[in-house]
Amino acid sequence: EDPRLTAISACFTVHQDFPKKGVSFRNILPVLRDPKLFKLLNDVSVERIHAKFPGKIDLVAGLEARGFLFGPSLADRLGCGFVPIRKPGKLPGKLVSVDYEKEYGKDVLEVEEDAIKPGSRVLLVDDVLATGGSLAAAAELVRKCGGTLVGSFVVVEMAFLNGRKKAPDALEALFIYT
Ligand code: PRP
Ligand code: MG
Repeated sequence: EDPRLTAISACFTVHQDFPKKGVSFRNILPVLRDPKLFKLLNDVSVERIHAKFPGKIDLVAGLEARGFLFGPSLADRLGCGFVPIRKPGKLPGKLVSVDYEKEYGKDVLEVEEDAIKPGSRVLLVDDVLATGGSLAAAAELVRKCGGTLVGSFVVVEMAFLNGRKKAPDALEALFIYT
């Protein structure tokens, strides 16, 4: 294994029964506290993105909220723009939105109508892939805007939740927990 990944994951913490009983929550956000680790994370992420998605990327689209923490620095490294995909009621102006099913009830994701131009090549970025519902909805949003989905990048994949079944096909994850 890449020693950089070992160094990064050493700062992750695990919390039993959070946010509810039976769930073991892995907190990856301490990686943001340490500039050396955060730089390593961006280095490895960009290498992986270039290897998996060799074509042109016009935009990184990050999912609110934790996708906002990782998307913009990757966009900077990739030399492209960043677009926020937000929860409802947060964005002004004309919007494109998608409804999707969550574990309990429905949710909505929105993007500014003029943010993803038809034909633009979009990479989705989020912190974690769990059931895949969020990335599936975000992919639908990109499609509705006429964009081309290049793929998705997540820091962590909770593989035991089988999110790849629901998430869009081309997906790269830095850490895969089984
Ligand atoms: C979490 C996580 C991912 C999503 C993954 O977001 O950050 O975005 O769930 O779950 P899924 O694969 O089952 O869709 P959440 O909305 O809980 O919180 P956040 O606003 O802190 O990102
Ligand atoms: Mg999230």
